[in-house]
Amino acid sequence: MKLKEALKEVLAENELTKLIKSYDIIGDIIIIKLHPELESKSEIIAEALRMIYPRVRTIAAVPLYAHTEVLYRTRDLEVIWGDENTETTHKECGCIFKVNLKHVFFSPRLSYERIRVAKKVLPCETIINMFSGAGCFSILIAKMQPQTKIYSIDVNPYAVEYMKENVALNRVEGRVIPILGDAREELEKLEGVADRVLMPLPEEAHSFLPLAVRALNLDKEVARGVIHYYDVATGRKDDDLFNAPLERARDIISSAFGDSLRIEVEEKRIVRSVAPRKYHVVLDLRVVALK
Ligand SMILES: C[S@@+](CC[C@H](N)C(=O)[O-])C[C@H]1O[C@@H](n2cnc3c(N)ncnc32)[C@H](O)[C@@H]1O
Repeated sequence: MKLKEALKEVLAENELTKLIKSYDIIGDIIIIKLHPELESKSEIIAEALRMIYPRVRTIAAVPLYAHTEVLYRTRDLEVIWGDENTETTHKECGCIFKVNLKHVFFSPRLSYERIRVAKKVLPCETIINMFSGAGCFSILIAKMQPQTKIYSIDVNPYAVEYMKENVALNRVEGRVIPILGDAREELEKLEGVADRVLMPLPEEAHSFLPLAVRALNLDKEVARGVIHYYDVATGRKDDDLFNAPLERARDIISSAFGDSLRIEVEEKRIVRSVAPRKYHVVLDLRVVALK
């Protein structure tokens, strides 16, 4: 049964229009965004969700206009029903991800994007994941393409602790290397090592682009590498949506490296919608050294 239908008899018509119909199920926790005018109805909404999902352990709400913590990208969760413990274990594509949703970013809405990127990885690649969170992209890649090494950085100590646990749970030790630190500093130590760099931090990735390029190994015979570059795009959902992010990436790279590199777009896609006419997008950039 759909949530709106379950609440049809208990909420007023104007309240039903404020209901956010989609919610995330992460392990045994449901997270729902709540319009400020529905805060007083949170118990009723939680009750309806419990009817639909009787095995859920915790239901938490995020205020619709809540800010996301700038550095760690976590949100203000309030448990509106059930166990206060917000740690859970989520299964995705044969992987197990343990996270505490209060302290670590996790979105099941990225599951397609994680598979998409993992499928592009070739055997024996060295990869850097600059913003790894609890290690989801890295672990999936290591499982799907075992002969890879993925340096996986995050600045959030909670995220890195969960990443270490997830590496063990998924038996990818030695292939996913968790690193606690700021990508700005950690990438200085990884110059020229990578075939591929992941930058899953749409709001800030642009400012790290020169570092990501420097991390690529462009000295090999085939002097190219790939950067999965995430950005925020605004506008209509058509091809033009990608123009501004691509131009910004090209400008940043050409100011840092002049004409020594060529940037080609392998693939581009909308990852998800984050507000009306606002999207997280990804551009798979092939960086080719011109000799
Ligand atoms: C949007 S989350 C991506 C998480 C992960 N890729 C996933 O699929 O779940 C961005 C992550 O970047 C981390 N982060 C933000 N700024 C950082 C920095 N300067 N260096 C390293 N990590 C950073 C945050 O702590 C957060 O875990």
